[in-house]
Amino acid sequence: MRTSTVVFLFALFGCALSEWNPLSDIHPITYNLTLDVNLPLVGEDNGNEVTMCDAEVDITAEATAPTRRIFLHAENLDIESTCFHSNGVYTFLNAVHHKDSNLLEIKTPYLLRTGEKFRIAFKHRYPLGLEQKGLYRATFSNFGEIHHYALVQLVPNYARRFVPCFDDEQFPATWNLKVTVPDVYDSFFNTAAISKTRENGIMTSIFESSKPLPPSHLNIIVGDYKASHCKEEQKSEV
Ligand SMILES: *[C@@H]1O[C@H](CO)[C@@H](O)[C@H](O)[C@H]1NC(C)=O
Repeated sequence: MRTSTVVFLFALFGCALSEWNPLSDIHPITYNLTLDVNLPLVGEDNGNEVTMCDAEVDITAEATAPTRRIFLHAENLDIESTCFHSNGVYTFLNAVHHKDSNLLEIKTPYLLRTGEKFRIAFKHRYPLGLEQKGLYRATFSNFGEIHHYALVQLVPNYARRFVPCFDDEQFPATWNLKVTVPDVYDSFFNTAAISKTRENGIMTSIFESSKPLPPSHLNIIVGDYKASHCKEEQKSEV
């Protein structure tokens, strides 16, 4: 058999047997992600409640083939708005959520040319719960006091549970992350923080740009890591 025939058959069976990978016409360059991680306060017991949290992402991407459709992964997300931005023009579009395949499909206002750069931005909500997939809440009791952390389990492809993304090792991109948390908490990322500000009970952390990383390589941690809190604990135990 000729190589092209083998490749064709492989592609055909690949499509039939496993999840079709329709992402290949677009590749992401940068994600600017803002996450609100609304953890319950220290001492607050919310059982196994799932909290819906606000998020926004502005993705800069490039078409690697002419296309009128953009596919990204998204799972269990509420997409509130989708905005396509190119050549200084913003267009609000409808993203169709194929829940069976966890794909978001967006029809672009015109045919994207090979090499054309554009932005696609989403406002969405993601669930923060105890299930250890995506960004999740870890809760434990320390001397009778309840503590909460937000941690990630993203391998092989659970980043799509908190951000619409090209959730595949083949698509590394630069990540610029901003995280807001109740101000008893601090947050950490793959990169160092550029700034941390506290205002109106909210702590905002902005992090340095990452090296190109696929979504599954992100690391986000939120917890009550305040040194003063640890000291108080020690004092009260003595
Ligand atoms: C993304 O964030 C970077 C770093 O803050 C900024 O320089 C860039 O302009 C932002 N891009 C978009 C599309 O908002």
